[in-house]
Amino acid sequence: MSKAEGTPAAETAARLRAEIEQHNVRYYVYDDPSISDAEYDRLMRELQDLEAAHPELVTPESPTQRVGAAPVSAFGSVRHAVPMLSLGNAFDEEDVVAFDRRVTDTLRGAGLLGPAQQAEYFCELKLDGLAISLRYEDGRLVQAATRGDGQTGEDVTSNIRTIKAIPLQLSGPAPKVLEVRGEVLMNRADFEKLNAAQAKRDEKVFVNPRNAAAGSLRQLDPRITAKRPLRFFAYGWGEVRGLPGTQSGLFDEASAGAADASTLPEKSHGAMLDWLASLGLPVNVKHNHRATGAEGLMAFYAKVGALRPELPYDIDGVVYKVDSLPAQKLLGFVARAPRFALAHKFPAEEATTTLLDIEVQVGRTGAITPVARLKPVFVGGVTVTNATLHNEDEIRRKDVRIGDTVIVRRAGDVIPEVVGAVLEKRPADAREFVMPKACPVCGSAIERLEDETIARCTGGLFCAAQRKQTLWHAASRKALDIEGLGEKLVEQLVDSGRVKTLADLFSLRPLELVGLDRMGQKSADNLVEAIDKARAPALGRLLFALGIRHVGETTARDVARHFGTIEAIMDADEDALSSVPDVGPVVAGSIRRFFAEQHNRDVIDQLKAQGVQPVAEAVPEDTTLAGKTFVLTGTLPNWTREEASMRIQAAGGKVSGSVSKKTAYLVAGEDAGSKLTKAQELGVTVLDEDGLKELLGSS
Ligand code: IVH
Repeated sequence: MSKAEGTPAAETAARLRAEIEQHNVRYYVYDDPSISDAEYDRLMRELQDLEAAHPELVTPESPTQRVGAAPVSAFGSVRHAVPMLSLGNAFDEEDVVAFDRRVTDTLRGAGLLGPAQQAEYFCELKLDGLAISLRYEDGRLVQAATRGDGQTGEDVTSNIRTIKAIPLQLSGPAPKVLEVRGEVLMNRADFEKLNAAQAKRDEKVFVNPRNAAAGSLRQLDPRITAKRPLRFFAYGWGEVRGLPGTQSGLFDEASAGAADASTLPEKSHGAMLDWLASLGLPVNVKHNHRATGAEGLMAFYAKVGALRPELPYDIDGVVYKVDSLPAQKLLGFVARAPRFALAHKFPAEEATTTLLDIEVQVGRTGAITPVARLKPVFVGGVTVTNATLHNEDEIRRKDVRIGDTVIVRRAGDVIPEVVGAVLEKRPADAREFVMPKACPVCGSAIERLEDETIARCTGGLFCAAQRKQTLWHAASRKALDIEGLGEKLVEQLVDSGRVKTLADLFSLRPLELVGLDRMGQKSADNLVEAIDKARAPALGRLLFALGIRHVGETTARDVARHFGTIEAIMDADEDALSSVPDVGPVVAGSIRRFFAEQHNRDVIDQLKAQGVQPVAEAVPEDTTLAGKTFVLTGTLPNWTREEASMRIQAAGGKVSGSVSKKTAYLVAGEDAGSKLTKAQELGVTVLDEDGLKELLGSS
């Protein structure tokens, strides 16, 4: 016993440590903090100050000691007292049914299950991190090791000690020896943040959260590990020895020995995890689940599969474990995996394959996207042969080269992407990607402006690729909505030279369509009819259909409402365009430049010649102030209340003195009082002066 023990300072230190560790678990494990960051920092500071004043009180288990020890040149090795095994895998229902049948037959044969009884399982998520064994002696974390080959792993104690989700000291009566097995992982959001920070500092980026977790844990400098957002969940145990006596509170020396079910405090896997949780260890209580028979297992698999995209971390399957420990003992092991447990895998979201080539695609606005041509690979449930590489910088950042073995990811319905290269497998003749100088479709120069990440083909509508996509966009549902004009058809019309501009579409006759790929008389008639219907589009739709950069559906409609006619828009200068709400200099400049090009003005003339006549945008009811009641309260920054009232009335609105259910808007300035409270209670929209100006401007 040190001389400090039992003193008031020692008691305060112990209390602060326990409190801080509790907050760590709430924050880092259950995402459910009960105090603010500032309060947490205050507790930490209090403990630091106390330890500074009483250095003899500092223990290795103090949360102040998590900052990371000095770097080492290599990891020592640790022989696991109980080997760390792996799991047998199941890939489909058949495998699961066979597993359940083997388990059930064995347990019934031994009389552990009645003839009609089904086996009980404990179901867990199969966390996609790395397995770790934590050794606690007398409740103190003394060693942590990676799985290694299952017999011997690496000593990563100093690094593990920096993970706040892992208690340095167990709470409550702890056994003499407790080896906890579980997974160290990184949440996806933390991984993204870490990679962004790494890229900014020009440091190595990681291909996925698992590699980031492994890389962080296998750091020779624990001070770096300390800065990495690692997490941990316990799902098992190794050696367990010297249980605290239930009566006396003393250790039960009689049970000291090999890890045997009889030395364990509980009789089921689930109850064991509850016990670990009661000692302050992180357990995935939110998703762990008991199930009966193969049907119960399949239901868990389906439920977790649906949940998978929403989980904050990656999983690669679920794990089923026979819940009863005596039953587990009876089932025993085959080779290096238990017969009582099974990993049921999800289709992998990542796979490796060869990057055969990088080609570029030209988008509607000329954006050049590098696309990976891959050796076909089955990933995320489909065969993938192409994947996006986004842009040139992304290729450099990921350091992917033609000929590399690459990791391809397809999660859910997200388009497949190349996440990185397996550097160890890089062939000597791997080639770096070079952005072509000329567009592969039209031969025009490819240009990349200094502050942009995207390179563009400068060919404009001279480029067949851009022309095709522009036409296809023009025909889309939110633009001219021409049913039946799909990608393949546009391609044929452009390639044959029959359609060069949007206007050319309107001169198509059924006769010339018949005979194109998959075009019969009927579909040709229907298409010409659909084109005909598009001759009177709302002005906003026509503007959107032109495919002007930065002009989306909403902007197009706003501009159309403001100017009323296509001629007015064509002749507007940047100032006039900028006076439309939500239109800034970028959009205004883009519209002006578009109509400054004679060939674009020609298209409008040709459209008119083909009988295309846009109709003015209907102004929807609720943006006019007519009939709407306003109440004013408080002091507005610029306008007097009289001035505001007059403007509202000039726009057709009414002004009233009191707030009621009929009030449409409360305009509130400084020192607004009871009217504001009442408006909030009634759910009336509250505006400030700027909000009112905006409303008046758009009406
Ligand atoms: S139990 C004796 N439970 O999967 C069985 N493993 O394929 C020991 N893993 O090395 C493992 N989540 O890294 C178990 N809930 C879970 C798991 C899990 C992830 C990993 C673990 C293990 C590998 C086996």
